[in-house]
Amino acid sequence: MRKNIVAGNWKMNNDLSQTESLLADLKNQTKTSNAEVLVAPTFTNLYHAYEALRTTDIEVAAQNMHFAENGAYTGEISASMLKSIGVTTVILGHSERREYFNETDELLAKKVDAALVNDMTVIFCFGEELTDRKSGNQENIVDGQIKNGLFHLPATAFKNIILAYEPVWAIGTGETASPEQAQDMHAFIRKTLANKYGNDLADSVSILYGGSCKPGNAQEIFSKPDVDGGLIGGAALKAEDFFAIVNAF
Ligand code: G3P
Repeated sequence: MRKNIVAGNWKMNNDLSQTESLLADLKNQTKTSNAEVLVAPTFTNLYHAYEALRTTDIEVAAQNMHFAENGAYTGEISASMLKSIGVTTVILGHSERREYFNETDELLAKKVDAALVNDMTVIFCFGEELTDRKSGNQENIVDGQIKNGLFHLPATAFKNIILAYEPVWAIGTGETASPEQAQDMHAFIRKTLANKYGNDLADSVSILYGGSCKPGNAQEIFSKPDVDGGLIGGAALKAEDFFAIVNAF
């Protein structure tokens, strides 16, 4: 069901002490919007964060997972292991994993399947590179990522899918997509969903924007009709900034 959502992707930041400090700050914030709020710490802090936020309306998510249930995959974490510590949402397909860890559309489709088999919710990320944007090829790139990663799924699966459009050229750069650029791409994504699964399903899926979303630009971006919130990186590491974005609806 389509909801306003703001998720904080902490990436590879915060040791245990820094995590405890940020969690305490987050618990002192007040939510004034109807947004659903999630934070995604690193694996080493995931259970600690889950326990610390248990009595709040802030949900905890994982930043990644493996497609196998268990076995000889040194260093990896499975969906069932995440579920066992209370984590039911996972970010998949982030551009940093696609780039640095060679995660292909095919591998991501397998990870999506494993998450859904475990009844998890997936925040599925995709987005074009600067060269694609400059050549006007952004829609083709995003079209391929969505279709190759998700379009093997039955319509019923999309109740567990949240989409996150993150133009790679806007991630961590301060070069935020304009609200119009975000809206144009989100509308394209929703149309792509509608062409395959129909308007009702397309209108039920939350599509988040990520890429230098900050307290100063969130409200205008979130005001666009096909933007349902944000996937936040740097600004999620300061509780006050993160909640300024949470409350930007
Ligand atoms: O997953 C969210 C992230 O990629 C965005 O990072 O620092 O540009 O908000 P940032």
